[in-house]
Amino acid sequence: MLRVGVMVSGGGTNLQAILDAIDAGKIRNASVEVVISNNPGAYGLERAKKHGIDAICISPKEFADREQFNEALVAKVDEYQLDLVVLAGFLVKIPQQMIDKYEHRIINIHPSLIPSFCGVGYYGLKVHEAALARGVKITGATVHYVDGGMDTGPILLQKAVEVKEGDTPTILQRRVMEEAEWVILPQAIDRIANP
Ligand code: GRF
Repeated sequence: MLRVGVMVSGGGTNLQAILDAIDAGKIRNASVEVVISNNPGAYGLERAKKHGIDAICISPKEFADREQFNEALVAKVDEYQLDLVVLAGFLVKIPQQMIDKYEHRIINIHPSLIPSFCGVGYYGLKVHEAALARGVKITGATVHYVDGGMDTGPILLQKAVEVKEGDTPTILQRRVMEEAEWVILPQAIDRIANP
């Protein structure tokens, strides 16, 4: 059984897609053991609680400096003896010591077809604003392994989504979530859990 931890900062719709996929048998041989957020107000924590899953907030604001936060974050992950860490809209940079310790065991969902519209400054609606500004006809989402860079690790899965006439960033974001993110993130976890 693959022990999975999910890290969120916001609404947690990708977390919900994972939980629903496990319940529906679309993700086999895996269990979400803990949900961790840097944001006490993250609705993703509520989604975890509703599902009977440990929901933990570790906020940088609670620590004297970033190093102490990083140490607390890694210690919490270690405590759950996780096989896989899933970043599902987690907006805090993963400390290098965690990337080293969990090499090839951390994955991230990004709302574009990497290498387009990714890297520093490309998160949330900003990604879709950039895609619309460039005038791309196809966008999508990417699941990739996390390395020391920003959205630079090996790509695991991608799914394309059509940009439609009249799309706003919010409309496009929703379509990318529904048609791509919520599909390929569970698929990626199932593949890792069932090699
Ligand atoms: C998603 O769009 C994801 O691609 C990005 O952050 C957003 C998280 O949304 N990394 P949610 O918290 O899963 O609803």
